[in-house]
Amino acid sequence: MAKIDIKINGKGYLETIDDNILLVDFLREKIGLTGTHVGCDTSQCGACVVHVNGDSVKSCTTLAMQVNGKDITTIEGLSEGDNLHPIQKAFQNNHALQCGFCTPGLVMSAVDLLQKNKNPSEDEIREWFEGHICRCTGYKNIIKAVQEAIA
Ligand code: FES
Ligand code: FES
Repeated sequence: MAKIDIKINGKGYLETIDDNILLVDFLREKIGLTGTHVGCDTSQCGACVVHVNGDSVKSCTTLAMQVNGKDITTIEGLSEGDNLHPIQKAFQNNHALQCGFCTPGLVMSAVDLLQKNKNPSEDEIREWFEGHICRCTGYKNIIKAVQEAIA
């Protein structure tokens, strides 16, 4: 067992955890933030992406212990009350989802992309999403949503 002291969506947590608990399981099972999904558990689909100190990270292959002392943002921390983040709005406007399973990870990843590159080209957006799998949409509207958010 280990103690961690972290901030999640602006709120501080001091928790005792198993040494080997994954960040995604910690967030979903211990903290109750189930917006972060598990699609593959093997670092392929990107459904589990959260931000650690502002950078997108696959939480299915990160130990909770590794983020001790860091600042975590999950999909639940992106909107301000009922006001969706511009990227969430753009996904909504462009029907960039069907079942929605991949959506939290894609949105978190897109936010990170636009923090690092304010005006990515279509190729750069597609390349950035290389670590994501959407089984429904065919990606076209996901790219359109990011382009709308850029505009
Ligand atoms: S659940 Fe983490 S990459 Fe698929
Ligand atoms: S919307 Fe269903 S997996 Fe992407």
